[in-house]
Amino acid sequence: MTTLATVITGASSGIGEALAHLFAPEQQTLVLVARRKERLDALAKELNSKHGIKVHVITQDLQEIGAAANLMNSIANLNLTVDTLVNNAGFGISAPFAKSDGAKTSAMMQLNMVALTELTHMALPAMLERRHGRIMNIASVAAFQACPYFAVYAATKAYVLSFTEALAAEVTDRGILVTAVCPGSTDTGFHEVANTKGSLVDKISESPEMVADEAYKALNNGKVVVVTGLFNKPLPVINRLIPRKTMTWAVGKMMGR
Ligand SMILES: NC(=O)c1ccc[n+]([C@@H]2O[C@H](COP(=O)([O-])OP(=O)(O)OC[C@H]3O[C@@H](n4cnc5c(N)ncnc54)[C@H](OP(=O)(O)O)[C@@H]3O)[C@@H](O)[C@H]2O)c1
Repeated sequence: MTTLATVITGASSGIGEALAHLFAPEQQTLVLVARRKERLDALAKELNSKHGIKVHVITQDLQEIGAAANLMNSIANLNLTVDTLVNNAGFGISAPFAKSDGAKTSAMMQLNMVALTELTHMALPAMLERRHGRIMNIASVAAFQACPYFAVYAATKAYVLSFTEALAAEVTDRGILVTAVCPGSTDTGFHEVANTKGSLVDKISESPEMVADEAYKALNNGKVVVVTGLFNKPLPVINRLIPRKTMTWAVGKMMGR
């Protein structure tokens, strides 16, 4: 018999790490996934000693083609079935599109969209069979409008939001909870990687713990989309009221290039 597990991608830092602390008290076996093994091992040890749960660490570069299948094989080899899938791993690139690194941009699309979609596709059949499961996909407030100088990143998050809302409509009445989380700027390693450290967006960051807390509650309450942070909540409505061209111009100005 297999054991049910909660799988969190990108658990080695930031929002993913904060989410691992929230899922751990549920007492379900945890699988922590990312590339930085030492950080995952340290977190696994901490959660195991605090909550007495089994925590597995899988190091997997999810931007590699075929990575999702490799990860699902590793999970199956541990005799685990995915009961909760948290697709959190992701990164951004802030640059004028013409000057951005093409290979890195493709890797970002592979991680933010393809790995997330493939993992969901592979985990879903067992959830549907059991009529039980939870899927949390981390999008962004960048999903609601075009973002000059963050163009491809924002587009990947628009994909995550659209995909997740559609999936929720397909499976919610079959026992599966599906949530898209749209955080605003959050104080994590993200800004270092995205080259937005010290920018206006970085300065208005919220804590990863606050984002994780709202995300976790939204998932368990069956909310399909959650925009985290009080000041971010009006964004979807503002986006509907202001012409797209004006919004795109304003965001371009804010990105400060
Ligand atoms: N911070 C923000 O302002 C913000 C706002 C909105 C949405 N988000 C989204 O929130 C999610 C989490 O990001 P974060 O803010 O917590 O940033 P973070 O601290 O940089 O965390 C990113 C996580 O993704 C993992 N990751 C990155 N590339 C990976 C790869 N190729 N394979 C496997 N794992 C990979 C990282 O682990 P390793 O480096 O160890 O692999 C890390 O655990 C992302 O999807 C991000 O787009 C962030």
